Amino acid sequence: MTSLTFRPAAAVAGTIAVPPDKSLTHRAFLLGAISDRPVVVDDPLDSEDTRATLDAVRSMGAGVEGDIASGRVVIAGRGVRGLTPPPVIDCRNAGTLMRLAAGIIVGQAPAEVTVLDGDQSLRRRPMRRIADPLVAMGAAVIPAEGGTPPLAVRPGLPMHGTVHDLPIASAQVKSCLLLAGLNAAGDTWVREPVPSRDHTERMLRAAGVEVMERDGMVGVAGPIAGLALPDMRVPGDFSSAAFAIVAGVLRGDPAVRVVGVNLNPGRTGLLDVLRRMGADITVEMGEDVAGEPCGDVVVRRTETLVATEVTAAEVPSMVDEVPLVGLLGARADGTTVVSGAGELRVKESDRIATVVGLLRAVGAEAEEREDGFVVHGPSAIRGGEVHSHGDHRLAMLGALAGLVSDDGVTVHGMEAAAVSYPGFTEDMAALGVVAA
Ligand code: S3P
Repeated sequence: MTSLTFRPAAAVAGTIAVPPDKSLTHRAFLLGAISDRPVVVDDPLDSEDTRATLDAVRSMGAGVEGDIASGRVVIAGRGVRGLTPPPVIDCRNAGTLMRLAAGIIVGQAPAEVTVLDGDQSLRRRPMRRIADPLVAMGAAVIPAEGGTPPLAVRPGLPMHGTVHDLPIASAQVKSCLLLAGLNAAGDTWVREPVPSRDHTERMLRAAGVEVMERDGMVGVAGPIAGLALPDMRVPGDFSSAAFAIVAGVLRGDPAVRVVGVNLNPGRTGLLDVLRRMGADITVEMGEDVAGEPCGDVVVRRTETLVATEVTAAEVPSMVDEVPLVGLLGARADGTTVVSGAGELRVKESDRIATVVGLLRAVGAEAEEREDGFVVHGPSAIRGGEVHSHGDHRLAMLGALAGLVSDDGVTVHGMEAAAVSYPGFTEDMAALGVVAA
């Protein structure tokens, strides 16, 4: 286990390009595997999670040329129902892989069961939310007792489209069902309480698939003949950029600039929250990359942040950034309240418990709520020792807590950051967030 101590600093500054988008890289590999034409993916994210997806794609029979570390991978797909899934796929820590792969596998030619499994963290995550709707379409998908992985998936049973009313907004669940819908007879519709990120829909459209919209739902008409994913370059990941952005809000002097970031509105809810808290943020839109709006974000230190409320309607557009609101709340005047975020309990860790635990461990005043948390600010962040709980975003949150602490914060389990952001410590050091 790696332990690093992040030191306080009076100012951070500089320009960084954050790693490529994790959500888009998973999708490029998985949709590439069912594409009729080979897809060149430039700048895929090289991380634990996306390596798991590349291995999965290879094990299902897609051709993989090039090395993810070299910045270019070519996926030779087998068509929309031409994959040959192996008996077991190890999804490691990647929930996106498990949920999207299940939607693809059910539609492949009849074959033996594939078991989708993962690490201890993934084995705690709920899978009935995909198993039940897939079964409603005619598929056979069986999670372990408790509704968690391992997940047994049988390819090739006849499926029919249906209307899925998701109780919780989830891009992973929506994507799983749309991908299953490509091989189901008739229309598959998905309705969410609040729209989640639409990367899958954009990529399917770019591949020539008609993605329908009606009454707030998205849908596909299956079975489709095929899809042809265009070559793509993966832009920077907003969820990784969020750490540099928050470092800039707390200590940016003169400024922190993050370049080439995916600014899909389904991902950038944190910017709205930061603006509400009084942060000085400039967004410079650039050209679209991979069908996604992209640009640079420039932030400067804000002396006085004001507390805010984040409610259910905002959570999907910032679901992975909510932990950062905890730290911002501790530095803001007033009481910051997050509600409608029960989903955080079933992420890579129980992020309501782990975020509040981290904040309290460094001296902030915070309390858990069933579906969120409350932070009283401004509270002194003394510093101390925290644990990542194997959760990448917790590890990185600990680093930022160190930046604004009095005495530094030691993060145990820092290696977890590599799940989404392998160069995190180096990028932060370049800005002046220094670890020892
Ligand atoms: C993701 C969707 C989000 C997010 C996850 C990646 C995706 O989950 O938390 O890190 O790539 O679709 P849900 O939208 O399923 O909650």
